[in-house]
Amino acid sequence: MKTIQTVSEEVFDAGETILDEVMEGLNRTQKTLPSKFFYDERGSRLFETITDLPEYYLTRTEIKIIRKHIDEIVWTLGPAIRLIEPGSGNSRKTRLLLDHIPDICAYIPVEISATFLSSVTAKLSDQYPGLNIIPVADDYTRQLKLPAEKHTECRDVVFFPGSTIGNFTPGQAQSFLAMVAGQVKDNGGLLIGTDLKKDPEILEAAYNDSKGVTAEFNKNLLVRLNRELGTNFNISQFEHRAVYNSEKSRIEMHLVSLVRQKVNIGKSEVSFRKGEYIHTENSYKYSLKKFKTLASPYFNIEKVWTDEHGLFAVQYLVPR
Ligand code: AVJ
Repeated sequence: MKTIQTVSEEVFDAGETILDEVMEGLNRTQKTLPSKFFYDERGSRLFETITDLPEYYLTRTEIKIIRKHIDEIVWTLGPAIRLIEPGSGNSRKTRLLLDHIPDICAYIPVEISATFLSSVTAKLSDQYPGLNIIPVADDYTRQLKLPAEKHTECRDVVFFPGSTIGNFTPGQAQSFLAMVAGQVKDNGGLLIGTDLKKDPEILEAAYNDSKGVTAEFNKNLLVRLNRELGTNFNISQFEHRAVYNSEKSRIEMHLVSLVRQKVNIGKSEVSFRKGEYIHTENSYKYSLKKFKTLASPYFNIEKVWTDEHGLFAVQYLVPR
């Protein structure tokens, strides 16, 4: 773990290279790139823009649910918690919790984009002067590496909003849940946001917005690779596509090659047929029942809060 200095806090940085994972993904028969690579600084900003789009109901709905039930949520979480947030982004939803929980021992945002994390942390410590913030710049999908600090009188609560769990395959989601259960086993819990299964038309609209921000967000992955790895993707020769795979109950994002072309990556070359695509993201949608089954080896569902249209759910899980 490498440490880097930031404006106001020290940030832990895994400092790993993305090259190995990129090569591995692009050498598969079905080319794929991990969705976590969307989130460089520009990608994080583009995602922020997505969350305000009219078609993207997820963020708005989740915030509405948390606002409406904030007292019950705070009561359910209980006192003296160390709040851990994997994939904290702009910590927008966390602020709702921070505004209402009086005795937080520490807030630990874990974020893959170190620069984005630094600027968010700086703002947060201004706005919450008494709060102990311990930012961790890391890829939590590998392991949840937390600073060894003693908050013995506190319970760990993991906050995982935004339906980020949907980016994992069900198998990966279970490994993640197992890891979280291990982290919060002593009287803690998991407050998680999950997007619910619904009319595919609503889903496809949410990932094909009319302003084309999601398309930019998807293509930014290639912009990033060109910058960080010196690849020569011709961005205009790729097209954004988002489709609902009903068999797997997930939105898939693709980058479709519009022509037959070759791209240089390091010393190797990757070729694309016309119409061939890179699978860049899965966003699984669960019914409440399916999610309960998924979590059941590790967690009991203690509370479920949803909106009046049943679009999204916020749930509190305790390890079993
Ligand atoms: C932040 C992963 C939940 O899957 O809806 C938004 C990311 N991708 N538009 C999602 C995303 C395209 C988002 N998550």
